[in-house]
Amino acid sequence: MKLVAGNWKMHDRGRALATAICGRLGARRVDVLLCPPFPYLREVGEALAGSGIALGGQDLHWEAQGAFTGAVSARMLLDTGCTHVIVGHSERRLLFGDTDASVAAKVQSALVAGLTPVLCVGETLQERDAGFAQRRIRSQVEAAFRPGCIVAYEPVWAIGTGRAASPDHARDAAQTIRVAAGPDTRVLYGGSVNATNCAPFFSVTDGALVGTASLDAEAFAAIVRAAEASS
Ligand code: PGA
Repeated sequence: MKLVAGNWKMHDRGRALATAICGRLGARRVDVLLCPPFPYLREVGEALAGSGIALGGQDLHWEAQGAFTGAVSARMLLDTGCTHVIVGHSERRLLFGDTDASVAAKVQSALVAGLTPVLCVGETLQERDAGFAQRRIRSQVEAAFRPGCIVAYEPVWAIGTGRAASPDHARDAAQTIRVAAGPDTRVLYGGSVNATNCAPFFSVTDGALVGTASLDAEAFAAIVRAAEASS
């Protein structure tokens, strides 16, 4: 089954957007996941009750509890109704110092708690231009993937730039990921996915991780419908 996930990042959206998305999605043949900022998890969870749409966090700490100011644990995410958590997003890696080692620890902690990690991997523009894209993707998967993870291929140069990868590039990356992680691994594409460009990605991957376009209920619903059409 295809999965369309919305990563709301640090945008000021909560119940109203969740309600608007629910109102536009009826019975579905695809999975849908929303990842709002931590403070809005509970109200978004309430808005999603009975909709079949899943709730996820955008990050977690690998420890169960302790003196880690600003962090949240897997158990806390579970307690607010999450079933999923994004791990190793490139913004966490580039802006907050997440490393392959800390991403691996977060994946492990999420799985032990019963959350499904959406492990993000992807090369930078520099790595791509140097011909290292597939090698970088493979090394990120080998460092952190565990059975039970969903993997999101998100080339750093395509995130928030309006410049999506080509479907061929996404297909090659998905193949690299499945060689490293196992042939049945669910692989998403992320990076400037919108209602207009999404359809080809659904024929080469198992879904999409959507940032900017997930903040617009109509655009997000159109992406979900495109995923259904290719299912
Ligand atoms: P974008 O973000 O769709 O705005 O490029 C994707 C992501 O960062 O997950």
